[in-house]
Amino acid sequence: MTSLFPHDLQPSDVYRLLISIVVPRPIAWVSSLGADGSLNLAPFSFFNAVAGNPPTVMFSIGQRQGVPKDTLRNVRETGEFVLNMVDEALAEKMNLTSGEYAYEVNEFERAGLTPLASMLVKPPRVAEAAVTMECRATQIVPVQDTTYTMVLGQVQVFHVREGLLRPDGSVDATLLKPVARLSGDEYATLGTMFEMKRPNL
Ligand SMILES: Cc1cc2nc3c(=O)[nH]c(=O)nc-3n(C[C@H](O)[C@H](O)[C@H](O)COP(=O)(O)O)c2cc1C
Repeated sequence: MTSLFPHDLQPSDVYRLLISIVVPRPIAWVSSLGADGSLNLAPFSFFNAVAGNPPTVMFSIGQRQGVPKDTLRNVRETGEFVLNMVDEALAEKMNLTSGEYAYEVNEFERAGLTPLASMLVKPPRVAEAAVTMECRATQIVPVQDTTYTMVLGQVQVFHVREGLLRPDGSVDATLLKPVARLSGDEYATLGTMFEMKRPNL
């Protein structure tokens, strides 16, 4: 075994190591609106679901040259965001929206995506996304000793494209075809799936 202590490594090497180990990571493609109406869309792979009911999700946002990224600014200003799921067909467009654009830049336009009015929150959804979740932020938590800020939010409404929902109310992942992030610029699609029943004690 090679044992690596974070404090012996450069911060960028620690980051590279961590994100190559915690894989595959789902991608939150977050649309948000500023108080001035600026529209924003950006991907975040420090993302997961953290509680079932009310359905609660988190994603974590770093800084750009000491300044909060546009998504964090918007969530702070309005408390709302939409999570759009990234599938294989949308991977390239998702990547386009990850450019470090100026605040005024509308990434929907940059990537040729269609904003679709949400039902309960002001930020629009990505019309092309098969699954979207309208969310309200519940906690904005500085991540200790880092430049990251974790946003937690509750899903107000799920939107699922026709044909993706199974009779039991779950989304069929083989039809969703999600894209996950691995190390650096690497991504993954779904591999082999298998089932296991949990122990029945
Ligand atoms: C797949 C992918 C995942 C990313 N995950 C994160 C993340 O978890 N946290 C983060 O701060 N930046 C992440 N980034 C970089 C942001 O998307 C990028 O900084 C973006 O410009 C932020 O946009 P904003 O300033 O409009 O909010 C990721 C980029 C890509 C392509």
